[in-house]
Amino acid sequence: MQSLDALAREAVALANNQPVGVAAGAGAVDEVARQMQICNACRYCETFCAVFPAMTRRLAFGAGEAHYLANLCHNCGACLHACQYAPPHEFAVNVPRAMAQVRRETYTEYAWPRAFGALYRRNGVTVAVATAGGLALFLVLALAMRGTLWHAPLAGNFYAVFPHNLMAGMFGAAFAFAVLALGVGAARFWRGQSPGAVTGPAAAEAARNALALTYLDGGHGDGCNEQDDAFTLARRRFHHFTFYGFMLCFAATCVATVYHYVLGQPAPYPVTSLPVLLGTLGGIGLLVGPAGLLWLNLRRHPLHGDPRQRPMDRAFIVLLFGTSLTGLALLALRDTGAMALLLAVHLGTVMALFLTLPYGKFAHAVYRGAALLKYQVERRQPNRLQLGGD
Ligand code: HEM
Ligand code: SF4
Ligand code: SF4
Repeated sequence: MQSLDALAREAVALANNQPVGVAAGAGAVDEVARQMQICNACRYCETFCAVFPAMTRRLAFGAGEAHYLANLCHNCGACLHACQYAPPHEFAVNVPRAMAQVRRETYTEYAWPRAFGALYRRNGVTVAVATAGGLALFLVLALAMRGTLWHAPLAGNFYAVFPHNLMAGMFGAAFAFAVLALGVGAARFWRGQSPGAVTGPAAAEAARNALALTYLDGGHGDGCNEQDDAFTLARRRFHHFTFYGFMLCFAATCVATVYHYVLGQPAPYPVTSLPVLLGTLGGIGLLVGPAGLLWLNLRRHPLHGDPRQRPMDRAFIVLLFGTSLTGLALLALRDTGAMALLLAVHLGTVMALFLTLPYGKFAHAVYRGAALLKYQVERRQPNRLQLGGD
């Protein structure tokens, strides 16, 4: 039995949003190692997700293994709710929390430039500052360009406010930096894994697992736990709205770039054109998905994940929602005198999103994608331990 003292310490830690279940002085990696030793003996959750089969291929859990398993964990909560050693048991096994704590270390340690890794630690503040900066920058620019934020209708001609080359240059540079920073992080992570050769079938299966979010099904197809023991597919569904909404918005931008540079057709495009249709569909997904994810996040069980990362999760969700809301408002009111103001607000929000892509929750897509790929590579290799498992 866990002593009253230990229970009280845990309650105080939870109330202060501090990690619980971590032995005094132990780091996040040590805590994953401690819990994986227990799980490796127990193996009750072997069929729940990819983490447990990957665990059975190992006897020791150093930093490389912990970072891999942490990013493989989808924080579905199934193993916490099933675990006979979960708090208040003195073993205090809480795999999703231990994994979430290591995930934050992954983001911080592999960040490029390294010093920017600190931005993950107070990420709510990071995103708020970037948003305020982005909004201020574009409002000032719009004022400087036109002398006023309210004007006679311009028939949706954005370039009458911000010249095309200025917009393309600023966003191209911010996006290229985000790709570089996330790419360096992913390469560092990958190098630390020595995963072996990537084959076509392994890459295809990993892509399928990422696109379908296979491991958000709790291992039985009924879904994750949110606020209690009940299973729900709501997180997976809202994530699909978010993910595919984001991809459609990205596709809309790519198609518009082709229209501009290849076909010589500059914006604005009619409501029935491909870029506007893709952007509108994507924008709706990016409203529904983040709204649902925020609703679930606010109701989530206090023992799930790492409470210190909730500001990062919520800031990213709100930024995605804001990007979509301001984009759709701009589309609806582009023929009015409010266009310059709405354009400045939308561009400021998108700039904040781009600048914080490598230093916030978006990083999960890159590291989780890499972990899923490693898993598919690894499970095609012989299991030298021969101790059961996948
Ligand atoms: C390889 C691709 C991706 C995978 C495997 C993936 C997986 C996941 C998983 C498992 C979670 C839930 C775990 C948690 O609560 O931390 C999550 C959360 C989230 N994902 Fe993704 N994701 C991917 C890409 C994306 C993309 C491209 C976006 C949007 C741009 C996105 C937006 C979100 C948001 C907003 C959350 C937060 C939900 C919350 O806090 O409850 N994801 N993702
Ligand atoms: S989480 Fe608990 S029940 Fe599941 S394998 Fe680990 S110790 Fe066993
Ligand atoms: S929380 Fe879900 S994904 Fe993570 S280890 Fe447990 S069962 Fe697997």
